[in-house]
Amino acid sequence: MSQSIDSQFHLVFPVVILEMTLGLDAAAYAADIRAVIGDGAYTTYHDADINRRFLALDATQELIGGIKQIATVYAKKINLDRGRHPEDWQINIWANVMKQDDSHEFHTHAMSSVSGTYYVQTSPDTSAIIFEDPAFHRKMYEEPIDARAKQTGDPPYYNYNNWYRKPPADTLLMWPSWLSHRVERQRNDVERISVSFNLDSRQNTK
Ligand SMILES: [Fe+2]
Repeated sequence: MSQSIDSQFHLVFPVVILEMTLGLDAAAYAADIRAVIGDGAYTTYHDADINRRFLALDATQELIGGIKQIATVYAKKINLDRGRHPEDWQINIWANVMKQDDSHEFHTHAMSSVSGTYYVQTSPDTSAIIFEDPAFHRKMYEEPIDARAKQTGDPPYYNYNNWYRKPPADTLLMWPSWLSHRVERQRNDVERISVSFNLDSRQNTK
């Protein structure tokens, strides 16, 4: 054998999740969102008036600009033939405040291409976002993973059923909208404030 076996492996059907720090003033943004959303609401998604006030925040508009720019790079990375320019993207964006014991069950974001969340306020033991392996439902039994992968939790994440992330404030996560995810129960009383979004683009030929 003249070649290394390592060079013969193909990564097929990979799921690409982007994670990056944006450098925004997340603490000030958290206070803005807190003021807009009030005490009773869990998400601005369900209240058009509150969401309009959320959209009117300068920080929200700055964030939208950043997300659209990043999405052009992300779309290229995953071979999407759309969203080649930031202005091509249409965005739906809303804010969430999770209090102690709040959680969010598995779901996907239907009718969009790219989704994500910007974390505005978290704590070290904040509830994790959990992504589910899209092949999970095709597995007839749980394939045990080796001890090294189990212990380190480091990439590559082959054979994982779920992938957990507890992003610090000012972190953006972006993923394909079809990827199932949930948020585990918030165990402490530090509010977990986040901004989620869906991106779509009808302009894919410019
Ligand atoms: Fe979601």
